[in-house]
Amino acid sequence: MSIVLSETKWHPRRERKMSEIRNQAIMDVIKNCISKKNNDIPFYVADFSDILFKCRYWKSKLQRVEPFYAVKCNSDPMLLNLLVSLGIRFDCASKGEIDAALGAGAEPSDIIYAHPFKSNTFLRYAASVNVDLMTFDCEQELIKIKRIFPQARLVIRISIPNVPAAFPLSNKFGCTMKDAQKLLVLAQNLDLNVIGVSFHVGSLCEQPFAYARAIGMAKEVFDMADDIGYHFTLLDLGGGFPGSTGSLDIFDKMCYYINEALDEHFPEGCGVRVIAEPGCYVACSSYTLCCKVLGKKLTSDEDTADGDIYKKKCFYYLNDGAYGSFGYGFEKYGYRIKPLLSKSQQASRPVLRSKLWGATCCSSDYIVEDCLLPEMEVGEYIVFDNMGAYTRSLTTGFNGFPMPLTHYVFPPQSAYKNDKLPPFEDYCKDLGSNRLKAFVKIQDYICHDDSNDDLFRKG
Ligand SMILES: Cc1ncc(COP(=O)(O)O)c(C=O)c1O
Repeated sequence: MSIVLSETKWHPRRERKMSEIRNQAIMDVIKNCISKKNNDIPFYVADFSDILFKCRYWKSKLQRVEPFYAVKCNSDPMLLNLLVSLGIRFDCASKGEIDAALGAGAEPSDIIYAHPFKSNTFLRYAASVNVDLMTFDCEQELIKIKRIFPQARLVIRISIPNVPAAFPLSNKFGCTMKDAQKLLVLAQNLDLNVIGVSFHVGSLCEQPFAYARAIGMAKEVFDMADDIGYHFTLLDLGGGFPGSTGSLDIFDKMCYYINEALDEHFPEGCGVRVIAEPGCYVACSSYTLCCKVLGKKLTSDEDTADGDIYKKKCFYYLNDGAYGSFGYGFEKYGYRIKPLLSKSQQASRPVLRSKLWGATCCSSDYIVEDCLLPEMEVGEYIVFDNMGAYTRSLTTGFNGFPMPLTHYVFPPQSAYKNDKLPPFEDYCKDLGSNRLKAFVKIQDYICHDDSNDDLFRKG
């Protein structure tokens, strides 16, 4: 088994080297999958060693912060099983996500229902399965919770304005500091049990210091709550952490500001449990997608009505697209295009301006408008990495095209030479019965293939 980056020896250059080795290993696995089963369904290779590494790295950098994985990011049941077996908890936003987490073996107490707006039905469901930790950010939600689930443990979500992020969230969710005061008074009058503060600085946050600012604001709300008569014990840092290959140096900066701000405002021993809801950080780099070229068309130069020349391009029609893995905002998560060609093939083919179209009949269904690629043939493959975040979970099935399959692997140990990964079992020490069940499910699913030293999906 695979990656070990000893935390103490961490360096971005080292990550680059490791990611090259890992990329090669994943490409080998992809070729192997194709040679075993060559059909027209796109497929992912999910690299579980990357997930193990991410969880371990988180632990080493943010010792005081418990990750609650945001299921929305990628709800692959195998991934959830793996996370349960590693003792990771979950952020869920709906009945479906609660079911997915519970189905993977999570305890109800391992879940935060972190959607500030819950339908009556979902709220009743959460109550029926004892998922009692949840967020709110407005008066109406407090009234709803009072009516349906008055015993819930509540977390007030504040908005953190003016944070540059690929997907800001504070324009949609979270209350202002002024409203926080009013809401806490109302909650007190309704006799509701508010226990802490949450925020989300925006997905793919571009300003590491924003976490420090947000923690400072959360502290003000803790003080406000004290004055009102509450005693808060939970701080939730939300998501926003990057997860693509090469993004660990930004993550490190975020950790630095978080740890500093926690030391200042919530020092160790202060009795406050600190959690976060990483999605992208956990899943992004671990899934690589392999698409097949189903069709190809060479366009000619054309004069357009306004006098421009529309330069010829090679159109490729792939078996996945905008209604599949390449949904809204996918391009922000750092995917890279890798034609699956040997070095000599790459060298011998002309490089063409290309457009990658998706599989469906819709003209908006394209993946990349304009890129340079060595000429590909129908039946060949194009690989996209960093495809684990907000991809699988956004697929629609439009036009009847199938969901990609997923192969779960630990890259061959030989690929990592001197970097030895402790056995998977070491990550799962002291398994409780649910974690053990989740672990067994994964072990059952993955079997060792002696012939190529990879771990492949059974069947
Ligand atoms: C409440 C909440 N928590 C966590 C996340 C995960 O965010 P990220 O993938 O940026 O870590 C999201 C994403 O939308 C969210 O809405």
